[in-house]
Amino acid sequence: MVSRVIPVDDFDLVIFGGTGDLAQRKILPGLYRRFCSGQMPESARIIGAARADLDSNGWRDMVRASIAEFSSVNRCDDARIDAFLMRLEYVSVDARGENGWKELARLVRKDIVHAFYFSVSPSLFGDLADRLYLHKIGNSDSRIVVEKPFGRDLKSAKELNATLAKHFDETQIYRIDHYLGKETVQNLMAVRFGNILFEPLWNSQYVDHIQITVAETVGVGGRGEYYDKSGAMRDMVQNHLMQLLCLIAMEPPSRFEPDEVRDEKLKVIRALEPVDPHHIVRGQYGPTDEKPDYREDVGDARSRTESFIALRTHISNWRWAGTPFYLRTGKKLKARTSEIVVVFKDAPHSIFGPEAGTHSNILRIRLQPNEGMTLGVTIKEPGPGGMRLLDVPLDMSFAETLGDDIADIPDAYERLIMDVIRGNQTLFMRGDEVEAAWAWTDPIIEGWERRHDVPKPYDVGSTGPEDALMMMHRDGRRWREIKE
Ligand code: BG6
Repeated sequence: MVSRVIPVDDFDLVIFGGTGDLAQRKILPGLYRRFCSGQMPESARIIGAARADLDSNGWRDMVRASIAEFSSVNRCDDARIDAFLMRLEYVSVDARGENGWKELARLVRKDIVHAFYFSVSPSLFGDLADRLYLHKIGNSDSRIVVEKPFGRDLKSAKELNATLAKHFDETQIYRIDHYLGKETVQNLMAVRFGNILFEPLWNSQYVDHIQITVAETVGVGGRGEYYDKSGAMRDMVQNHLMQLLCLIAMEPPSRFEPDEVRDEKLKVIRALEPVDPHHIVRGQYGPTDEKPDYREDVGDARSRTESFIALRTHISNWRWAGTPFYLRTGKKLKARTSEIVVVFKDAPHSIFGPEAGTHSNILRIRLQPNEGMTLGVTIKEPGPGGMRLLDVPLDMSFAETLGDDIADIPDAYERLIMDVIRGNQTLFMRGDEVEAAWAWTDPIIEGWERRHDVPKPYDVGSTGPEDALMMMHRDGRRWREIKE
């Protein structure tokens, strides 16, 4: 199988915050890989814009080092890297002053696709938008790209949406949630809506419950200042886990088009029930003797921010009434793994008698690492001597099935940036979706604040606090093991 690479139209992409961490780790190495794969037209240009007093050559040196460090592609030779770097220009601009804007206006070409990536603090979004408008940089089709965190509650998200709406139409705004750019996350839609097999069973009549786990082994070291003001709820649940929940639970959209897909996701978020405080567990890693704990990582000995969360929620609609959704995410856990597990109900009656035990089908969708799907089916244990039952997996590892093609798959950022250039908003969050997600999240966080809730400690390298296991246990269920 050979992957198809469809070149995009000529473009100028301006990266505000072009010297920052995200630009250097993800955006630029990603663009370089797209350039290597032949997707970027030869004449396309990337313009870095930041406060740092650099010239284009200085920025190119910086980007060369980032490509060497963060790009896994090794098939590109020095000549290709040089060719890519020649697409790069740099302008020193002051988001809150006049410096650099005239030069930027001169650099950005007319009558091609323009994208402005705001890889800066959200407090600067308004300033950048105003100045682009003032200096007439771009046109009515220009796209702006913004990153999470998109607000820290409903009020601030509304303010940000209003700030952007002053100069840009919703069709021009691309809010990135990089989980939506992951190959396997999109595969969720293909599995659900490309097959007849699962859909008839995809409801509360047949599904006992759904678990979504995003476990990480990394801590918050290096990002402590940001993270301690956010916590797992704002950093992961409000966005990434929420998007996974939407894709797994939404109704089939009539077409794979931006608004059709986003309308269905929005309905799921709006149908989420408030979470009962008894069905939510917050945790914080450490302390252990030899490993630094969370409070040391963030430099606040009294921090009450959670680095782990497990919760149960329900979706109030015809399809899902009565089926619990369990979400769990945390840092410094036992293994790095993200997966969605659909646990089907037991067969209504066992013809094999009680000694055969109860068996349920389980569909496990592994998002990362080792992307793939496993469907647990019950068979007869081989051999003579009565009917004993056994659960075995029907296993599909994408790496084994798709071979080299999977190694060549663009990472989330590459794909999403190319979608911006193509003008395809399907994998980006709409303003109302983000607001609805905050409307569900806010009361949960306010509840903790009101009660001065203190997260439960958990060991580094564990599966999170005991209480998370107990929460499931009380429901007569158990979490899937966290393992790679
Ligand atoms: C980011 C969060 O959005 O996603 C990080 O801010 C988290 O805290 C990261 O580590 C996880 O992304 P991935 O792609 O490694 O699963």
